[in-house]
Amino acid sequence: MAMRNMGRLLIPARLRGRLRAAQLRLFGEHARYRGKTNAEIFDAIYSEGMWGKGSEGEGTSGSGSHTDALTDTYVTAVGAFLGRIGKPTTLVDLGCGDFSVGSRIAPFAERYIACDVSSVILARNRERWRFPNVEFRLVDLSTDALPPAQVAFVRQVLQHLSNTDIARFVARLEAERPFDFLVVTEHLPKTSDFVPNLDKDSGANIRLYRNSGVVLHEAPFGLTALEREILCEGDELVYGIPGVIRTIAYRLK
Ligand SMILES: C[S@@+](CC[C@H](N)C(=O)[O-])C[C@H]1O[C@@H](n2cnc3c(N)ncnc32)[C@H](O)[C@@H]1O
Repeated sequence: MAMRNMGRLLIPARLRGRLRAAQLRLFGEHARYRGKTNAEIFDAIYSEGMWGKGSEGEGTSGSGSHTDALTDTYVTAVGAFLGRIGKPTTLVDLGCGDFSVGSRIAPFAERYIACDVSSVILARNRERWRFPNVEFRLVDLSTDALPPAQVAFVRQVLQHLSNTDIARFVARLEAERPFDFLVVTEHLPKTSDFVPNLDKDSGANIRLYRNSGVVLHEAPFGLTALEREILCEGDELVYGIPGVIRTIAYRLK
């Protein structure tokens, strides 16, 4: 058995999380991204391939975007949801990443606005993906105007952002209600006792190592919705910590 796997068996998940948190504080994103904008942070992540690399060495959006078991379940569930609410005309994807997931959702709508804060990934997407109904747009969801749409998707994006960035986004959702539905996908610890919404700096990592994850309807965000529904979920193991990728649809108006 590899030493790495032996370590996983000997060190409990919670302690591994604490060790990872200390490592990140000393050497990771807290130190690395201080004073940088979201555009600079996520451009660097793609340029360096920090979430993984494709066949030509290009940075990708990571395992959550490229694990068939997760993405197939998501596309099926979202397709059924869009059918149920009556074929929306405009969809917005906030944090579209390398568009491997968005490219499978775009055919469901007349118009699909795929937004990201990284001009590195948007430039690559414009070269690679040619859909007549898709527009790629540079948008920071925490500060820029949100394109109105019937449905907005935010898939595995908020998990990378600080509570300040998320709170700014939620404040505009509450004030403007720019979407009928917001479909949020987040990577959460696979335990019932995790603490939602512990803070972190914006960057490549997620709250899992602190036994936390983003839940928009919980404090301090407290997103208000007329209804909410879990559309799908699937297991994912990162940092050796069991997690679940959960997608919730919020009806905002
Ligand atoms: C892990 S990737 C997920 C990509 C895609 N949603 C998917 O599920 O395949 C997270 C994406 O969110 C983008 N992102 C991070 N912060 C953002 C922000 N404030 N506004 C818009 N996009 C952001 C990143 O550049 C990255 O492309």
